Amino acid sequence: MLIESFKIGNVNFKNRVFVASGTFGYGNDVNSLVDVNKLGAIFTKSLSLKPRDGNPSPRIVETSSGMLNSIGLANIGVQKFINEKIPLLKNLNVNIIANIAASSLKEYCLVVEKLNPFETVKGFEINISCPNVKDGGLLFGTDIKLVEKLTMKLRSLTKKPLIIKLTPNVTFISEYARAAENSGADAVSVINTLVGMAINYKTRKPKISTITGGLSGPAIKPIALAKVYETAKAVKIPVIGIGGIMNWIDAIEFFIAGASAIQVGTANYINPSTGVGIADGIVKYCNQLKLKNINQLVGSLEVGKSSSVIDSWL
Ligand code: FUM
Repeated sequence: MLIESFKIGNVNFKNRVFVASGTFGYGNDVNSLVDVNKLGAIFTKSLSLKPRDGNPSPRIVETSSGMLNSIGLANIGVQKFINEKIPLLKNLNVNIIANIAASSLKEYCLVVEKLNPFETVKGFEINISCPNVKDGGLLFGTDIKLVEKLTMKLRSLTKKPLIIKLTPNVTFISEYARAAENSGADAVSVINTLVGMAINYKTRKPKISTITGGLSGPAIKPIALAKVYETAKAVKIPVIGIGGIMNWIDAIEFFIAGASAIQVGTANYINPSTGVGIADGIVKYCNQLKLKNINQLVGSLEVGKSSSVIDSWL
């Protein structure tokens, strides 16, 4: 019998398949379409102190094998989340992780302090990697000293799982992961979107209003795998793999690269029950290989030797 559950910090997750922030609303929105209780966790849309309208449209465009977005962290604000969403989320049997965005250290702290007392919020994912805003976002995520300072400060405010969401738009993501780990983070999410651009050749205009945006979807999977591999070798805390995961085979590849859990993002726009299907697929794969625990897969990349596992699978 496969044991799927695992822990981040002091919280148990019933499985390792999560839905990524910004692709699943606040958690209650797709409840009627998907049995969300079969997921390991829902990561909410980014929450900031005040409501945000986000960037002007157009702010999403499809590209080859990917999606370019520049939403600009549009959200209802933390107080409305508390008043209107938490009462709905309370009734779900799935871990809710609040994704937090802010433009200053103080704002990150205020949002975490406001949400921390609520039992429904099981942990925090700190978004220091949004490429689409002028303040906060990448400014934090590309400065190691700020990563340390922010993580340390937030660690002092909560005992709940603290997950830092990292950007791939740096030379060595593992250095940022190590800084987060050494400052008290319980896990890192790897990766957020890559800075990208799309141009209309007829009008010579950028296809999104902010000129550049964040690229996600299958186009970035090879990059995400490489960043997860690099990060998992550098830290002991769990690495949550994200980037172009469309099906259970993609998820298994992320485990092999070193991810302890995965997030499904862009695929939710095609089918919001992708995560549930992936959770089922992982169980079938592990049962077929007679694995007792997914940890047997995590970081199991076979380099330079013949592979007994793959031979038996074939
Ligand atoms: O523009 C956005 O809201 C994107 C956020 C993110 O990638 O974290």
